[in-house]
This record gives sequence, C-alpha cells and structure tokens, in this order.
Amino acid sequence: MISVQDLYVTYDKRTPALRGVTVDFYDGEFVGIIGLSGSGKSTLLKTLNGLVTPSKGKVLVEGNNLTQLKGKELRNLRREIGFVFQEFNLVDRSSVLENVLIGRLGYQSPVKSFFGIFKEEDYQLAEESLDTVGLTAKTFERGDQLSGGQKQRVAIAKTLAQEPKVILADEPVASLDQNSGKVVMDTFKRIQQIHGISIIVNLHDVDLARKYCDRLVGLKDGKVLFDQKTEEISDDDITGLYS
Ligand SMILES: Nc1ncnc2c1ncn2[C@@H]1O[C@H](COP(=O)(O)OP(=O)(O)OP(=O)(O)O)[C@@H](O)[C@H]1O
Ligand SMILES: [Mg+2]
Repeated sequence: MISVQDLYVTYDKRTPALRGVTVDFYDGEFVGIIGLSGSGKSTLLKTLNGLVTPSKGKVLVEGNNLTQLKGKELRNLRREIGFVFQEFNLVDRSSVLENVLIGRLGYQSPVKSFFGIFKEEDYQLAEESLDTVGLTAKTFERGDQLSGGQKQRVAIAKTLAQEPKVILADEPVASLDQNSGKVVMDTFKRIQQIHGISIIVNLHDVDLARKYCDRLVGLKDGKVLFDQKTEEISDDDITGLYS
C-alpha cells in the first residue's frame, strides 16, 4: 500500500503544484488520476517513487517513509515501483529483448551490469514479460522497427521484468492512436488481473479512465476534488473537474 499524507510540492518557491493531497493506493488496484493540464497529476505520480521530493507531508510505501530512505533501501523500494512514461524511453538501436533486459539491471551488481552479464533467470523473466504484453514474435527486432503501441508494450515488459508490485504510468497512451491506446490499456488490465500488480495511471482521456480504472482521483489546482469508485462518479463531478 502507498499512503500519501497531506502532501505539498513546491517547485521554484512559487504556488505549490500539490497542496495538501491525501490519498491511499491499495494493493492490486487500478487507479486513474485525472484533471486539467497543470493540476498536478505528473507531480503526484513522481512523488510516489521519489522522483520529486515533497516540501511537506509524507509518502509511505508499505509503511516506510519514502523521503527518509537512502542508498540500498531506496534502490530496493524503487525496484518495486515501476514507471512507464508517455514517450516509451526505449533504446532504438537495441533489440526488443535487450530493452526488456534493462529492466533486470536493478538486480545486478554494478560491475556485472556494466559488462552486460545476465543470468538465465533474467532471460526467462524477459521472455515471460514479452509474452504477457503479446510481443514474443518481436523479441529480436530492433526498437526502432516497432510501432508506437508496440514500443509502449515493450516499455511495459521492461517494467514487468523488474518484478514490481506497482506500476506508475504517466499518460502512457497520449502519444498513441485510439486503437493502439486501447491495446496498451488492455495490457495494463491483464497485468493487474493476472499478476495482481497495482496500476496507477495518469490519463487525460476521461472515457478511457472510466472504462479501465476501478477508482478515479480527480485533481484540481493541486488538490483532490474527488476520490471515488469509478461507478460512483457522476457527470457533474467530471464537469466540475474540468470547469
Ligand atoms: N520541473 C518543474 N519546475 C517548475 N514547475 C513545474 C515543474 N513541473 C511541473 N511544474 C508546475 O507544477 C504544476 C503541476 O504540473 P504537473 O506537470 O504535475 O501537471 P499535470 O497535471 O501533469 O499536467 P499535464 O496534464 O499538462 O501533464 C504546473 O503549474 C507546472 O507548471
Ligand atoms: Mg503531466
């Protein structure tokens, strides 16, 4: 469980991007974070794995205060929280398999990872991850030979190979056409259902958020406007969020 308590984030000493956000993310959930551009969605997601440091408040991951962890403890915790970006972040000249193996680097000693030595177990996990995202047939293709949707699924496989408990995804379908976006969202759903991994996703497409997420957190001006089961959210809630 990730528990966010009275969180404030201020960049450059200006108006805080987050202003007193309190929200819990439970194991195995599929949660969507929605809201206008600038409402603080990316900031919230980034504080959940320590990419952004809060100016006030806490992020507790399994009861551990994220901001107080350092070194090995922080690395171990980060390994359990995968992050998927809008822009895929693949190495174009490397094969799909090599890209997925990068997800295993967190489990290597620095010297070993420098020489690129992976164990049998690493290859097995990489292959299983590619199977989960439905891209086994592309294992030996180069990253730049794939479509946008396929690239994003490789990025998800890379994150899966990391064996996370939670996957955070910041606008993972914003650069994709509708159909590829749907395939990517279906992939997240399958990962939640089969592997029990929690998915926390920022989305600007409300219809997509309503279709896939069990719960929606609406952010407005850095505050939580609503935090409810998806089926309990009314059209008025949505109108209020975007007005
Ligand atoms: N690195 C940064 N430095 C300074 N200000 C920032 C930084 N990142 C975000 N902000 C500001 O913090 C606020 C929240 O930004 P954030 O990126 O979290 O919003 P968002 O909801 O993800 O928006 P979008 O839908 O456009 O991605 C905005 O006012 C933004 O300008
Ligand atoms: Mg954003």
